[in-house]
Formats: sequence, C-alpha cells, structure tokens
Amino acid sequence: MAAAQEDWVSDESCSHRESEPAEGKTTTACNLAVVLAETEQRIVLLDADVRRPMVHTFLGVSYKPGLSDFVDGRATYDEVVQRGVLENLDFVASGSTTPQASKILASRKMEDLVAELKAHYDLVVI
Ligand SMILES: Nc1ncnc2c1ncn2[C@@H]1O[C@H](COP(=O)(O)OP(=O)(O)OP(=O)(O)O)[C@@H](O)[C@H]1O
Ligand SMILES: [Mg+2]
Repeated sequence: MAAAQEDWVSDESCSHRESEPAEGKTTTACNLAVVLAETEQRIVLLDADVRRPMVHTFLGVSYKPGLSDFVDGRATYDEVVQRGVLENLDFVASGSTTPQASKILASRKMEDLVAELKAHYDLVVI
C-alpha cells in the first residue's frame, strides 16, 4: 500500500501491505475481523480493494455505497458504515469500483474516514 497510509496505520488499525496477488489477504482480513468480533471487541472491517472488491461477497452484503463513494463525496459516513453485519462487526465496503485506486487510497478523505472509524471502534481491520 501507499506510503501516505503510514500516517493512519497504528496500534488501532491493521492492514495488509507490500503484498503479492492472491496470497490470502482478503481471506485473512475477513477471518481476523470475525474472530476478533467474537471476543466482544467492537470491530469494523474496511474493504480498501476498490479495483476488485471481494469482502462484501464473503459477508453476503452489498459493495456499495462504500469507501470510493465517501471519498468522492457521494455518500456520508453514516451511509457507508453497514452496521451489525455480524454481532460486534460493522463493515465499510469498497464502494463503486474505480480505476483511480491510488487516488482513493492516498486521499485526505480516506484518512478522515479511518480516523473516524478509529474513534468509534476498538479495532479497524483494513
Ligand atoms: N489459508 C488458505 N488456504 C487455502 N486457500 C486459501 C487460504 N487463504 C486464501 N485462500 C484462497 O486463495 C484465493 C485467494 O485468496 P484471497 O482472495 O484472500 O487473496 P488476496 O491476497 O486477497 O488476493 P488479491 O491480491 O487478488 O486481492 C481464494 O480462492 C481463497 O479462498
Ligand atoms: Mg484481496
């Protein structure tokens, strides 16, 4: 992932970075979020793969509105947080697919979204 993200990745959020294709990032993130939610912590899972989103399929929910819609001003924080996907697990989908993935990921608005999520949850899994 982009260096710009270093600022918002911290103890309260975790993400898969500098990775290979199809090595199990999505599967691991989903399983991690589900297992952590079972420990009574409030977890939010954010699908940051705006090119080929998959997490919504795993959870059986819609991929939009989500991250890209929030960044482009098409949806609000409350509109993109899908609440109660599982007990203690909320979800922010990738949103409408876009070729401008790096722009989305490096955006100030994505930083704002993650900051907002960190304020509301025990852990943000990206
Ligand atoms: N631990 C595992 N054991 C066996 N198969 C796995 C494991 N983890 C993931 N897979 C399978 O490998 C494939 C790729 O997994 P996944 O989509 O999680 O990878 P990814 O790193 O997110 O890929 P991408 O780079 O395309 O986003 C999927 O079919 C998934 O079911
Ligand atoms: Mg993936």
